[in-house]
This record gives sequence, C-alpha cells and structure tokens, in this order.
Amino acid sequence: MRKDFLWGGATAAHQTEGAWDVGGKGISIADVMTVGGPGIPRRITDGVLEGENYPNHEATDFYHHYKEDIALLAEMGFKSFRTSIAWTRIFPRGDEDEPNEEGLKFYDDLFDELRKYNIEPLVTLCHFELPWALVKEYDGFLNRKTIGFFVKFATACFERYKDKVTYWMTFNEINNQADAIQHHILQEGGILLNGRENAEEIMYQSSHYELVASALAVKKGLEINPNFKIGCMIGYNPVYPATCKPEDVLMAQAAMNQKYWWAYVHVRGEYPHWLLNKFERHGYKIDITEEDKQILKEGVVNYLTFSYYMSFAIKADPENNPHYDYDRKYFVKNEYLKASDWGWQIDPVGLRWGLNWFYDRFGLPMMIVENGFGAYDKVEEDGTINDDYRIAYLREHIRALKAACEEDGVDLLGYQMWSPIDIVSASTGEMDKRYGFVYVNKNNAGEGDLSRSRKKSFFWYKHVIETNGEELD
Ligand code: BG6
Repeated sequence: MRKDFLWGGATAAHQTEGAWDVGGKGISIADVMTVGGPGIPRRITDGVLEGENYPNHEATDFYHHYKEDIALLAEMGFKSFRTSIAWTRIFPRGDEDEPNEEGLKFYDDLFDELRKYNIEPLVTLCHFELPWALVKEYDGFLNRKTIGFFVKFATACFERYKDKVTYWMTFNEINNQADAIQHHILQEGGILLNGRENAEEIMYQSSHYELVASALAVKKGLEINPNFKIGCMIGYNPVYPATCKPEDVLMAQAAMNQKYWWAYVHVRGEYPHWLLNKFERHGYKIDITEEDKQILKEGVVNYLTFSYYMSFAIKADPENNPHYDYDRKYFVKNEYLKASDWGWQIDPVGLRWGLNWFYDRFGLPMMIVENGFGAYDKVEEDGTINDDYRIAYLREHIRALKAACEEDGVDLLGYQMWSPIDIVSASTGEMDKRYGFVYVNKNNAGEGDLSRSRKKSFFWYKHVIETNGEELD
C-alpha cells in the first residue's frame, strides 16, 4: 500500500454531535426524525414536537466530547477522519445572508484538534442535514433557489477553512435517491414526498439542482484554493445479475446505470444518453438549461469517493418491465452471501469489483469513505466487548481493497471505516445498531451515561494502521 495511505474513519455531524439547539444551531431535517427499528421506519414530524423521541438531538454528544473522541482516534493512529459540517450550525435556517459565527468557530476548534494529532480532516458539506426551514418553506432541492443557499454555505466553509481542510465532498450518497422514491422522503434533497404522485420525476429534478449546486461549489472552491480536492460521494452497493440468463445480465446493467448515473454527471459533466432517453420515454420534463449544462462541465470533481456496505442481485421481468426500469422489487437474495442482523448482505469481493468498476470508468483517484458492520454488541461482565464479527468483516474488506490496489492497480487514496465511534444509525435511528471500535454507553431508549470504552476491534485496527495494512490477522 502507498506510504501516505489515509487510514481512518468516517462519521457525520447529525449522527454524532447532538447539541441540536446549542450555539445558535437551527433545526435540520435529521432533528425532526423519530427513532425507528429493524423494519420500523423513522417518522418525520412537523417540526420538533413535545413527547417524541428524536435520537439525533443528543446523539453521542460529540459536540461536547470531541476532544476525548479525537484522542481515542489518535491512539489508534488515525491518519484521517471524515465528518460533515452541520449546515444549520452555519446557516440555521439556510436562507440567511450571514453565517453564524459560533457555528464556524466550533469547526475551527474541531479541525485544530485533528491537526494537533496530524489527522487529516475529510469534510462532507451536506450529509442528510438540510435545514428544516428549506424543507418546509422552499421544498428543498426541488426549488432552484436552494442551489444558491447551498453555494453560499459551501463558500462560507471553503473560505473559513481553506488552510485547515483540503479534502471535501459535496453531497453524501447523492444517489440514494434512486431507492428513496419508494419511501416518504428524499432526505438528501430535503423533499417530503407524502404520497406525491410523480415521485420519480421529482427525484430527477431535485437531483439535477443538487448536481448544479455541487458543480458551482466545486468551481468556487477551486478558485478559493486550487489545492483543494473536491469530490462526489456515491453510495455504492453493486447489483449483480441473479443468474447468467442474458435478460438478468441486462437488468443488472440497467440497475447499475440507474443507481449510479450521478457519478457520470459529477465526473464527466454531462448526462448519459440513456438517461436522457429515459426522461423522454417517461415524458419527464426536467428543467435543465444551457447554462446548467455549462456549469456541470466546468464544475467536475477531481477525486471520487464512495461508501460500500453490501451488494444486491436482481432478476429481469421483461414481460412487465420491458424497458428494464430499475426497481428494488426485482431484487433477489444472493444465496452465496450471508447477511447482517439488518439483512445487509456481506460481500468483500464486491468491494474489489466495485473499485475496478469505478476506476475503469472514471480513472480518478478514489477514496473509500464508508465501510463498516452494524451489529448488536455485548458488554461482558468484566467490561470487555469482543466484536470478532466486526473484525472479520473489516479484515476481509481490507483484503479486497488491497487486492484491488496491489494486483489490479487502482488508485486508492485511503480507507475510512464507518464509524469508529458508535453513532445513531441513519436509517433506523437506533444506537444499538453499533459500528464503532469505541463503544458509547447509550441504548435505543436513550439510557446510558455516554461513557466511551474500547472494543477488541480498537486494538486490531490500531495494529492494521501501524503495519500499513500488512498484518490483518
Ligand atoms: C450510509 C450513510 O448510508 O450508511 C451513513 O452515509 C449511515 O450516514 C451508514 O450511517 C450506515 O447506515 P445505517 O442506516 O446503518 O446507519
């Protein structure tokens, strides 16, 4: 592995910071989401309501524990740490003229603390955290005005942290929307679907405005500091054909296109031909102006990041779905893979396959910015936590990425495990779906004193970093 490989971990503001109403912070969409559970969706309430359980309000209180937490990361030898800037700390409603100084100051202190230990900060600008006022009053990214609000926010961050942060990502898992249309919300774009009929068209329109916002931010950022690395962030879970039947192979290709087209626009600055055909076939009228096209060309990203947790398999149904439109209802269980307690199919080989898929298409330097295993952990009587299942998952995924680098020759800048310290799960709002090397004493009901303790995997990852990935056992 390269000597400067960025071994580290990733998380997001709303899943860790808590302090939802401290320091002038406004309400974000994550602040109105209740706790759910396996198979129980989170609800979105109309503002913050008395008597509801909002797990992100306190989360793991990173806002007040960040020094202790960063010291733990430094003890493991972290070279990098990814988090997001909560938009509502900087612009509490999203549409103000001036940023909130107290919010800006918090991230100054946080980045200084990381730099103290030579930990490179990797920063996402928007990680499922749209200001609630933009959701309620503007319809999120379905409104062209939100482009301007985002660019103002991004510019404030670039200017303030230009000497502290080099690696940026614009929108976390921007392509999650391909799957979200079956739910009640497009969280990344801040749009409440609530039964609106043309959900797919809405998704394409808001995605377009987000992509324009991202491209404008990239342009602006590189003017402010030409050394910035500004990337896209794709939620990447490859889709395999269920069998070698040619129709299944075609369906898998169509699914890959329809799940990952956002990367084409981010990297190549233009829409793939087949997607424009799809718009036409469905009669979607997407507002894409000539000026937008120019902006997309001028604001292409200069590295590519993605998360990886699992893979899927899909079956074709040419009779009922002759155009091979992507829909999760065609997914089938992959009989070769085991799954986590949340049904996420464990597939390290898919990570190697995915690294090659991206590199062949786009040829950009890449970074894995999320990969991890959500599981129930047991605290033994003596206080130890023996999370061998997590070590096994991470070990095999690191083996796979090493093969992609050393045997296949992909250009990989780093690996950020998700999430080094337990967090609130994004999909379910649970604390008990644990990811960390560090245990946080708090459960789904919100009970616990938030104390931190090292799991077995903590010592394992420390050794992985020390040996630059040479010793994984
Ligand atoms: C990614 C998100 O989709 O997966 C994270 O970027 C999220 O925010 C992670 O936490 C794991 O998903 P979950 O639902 O288990 O928290």
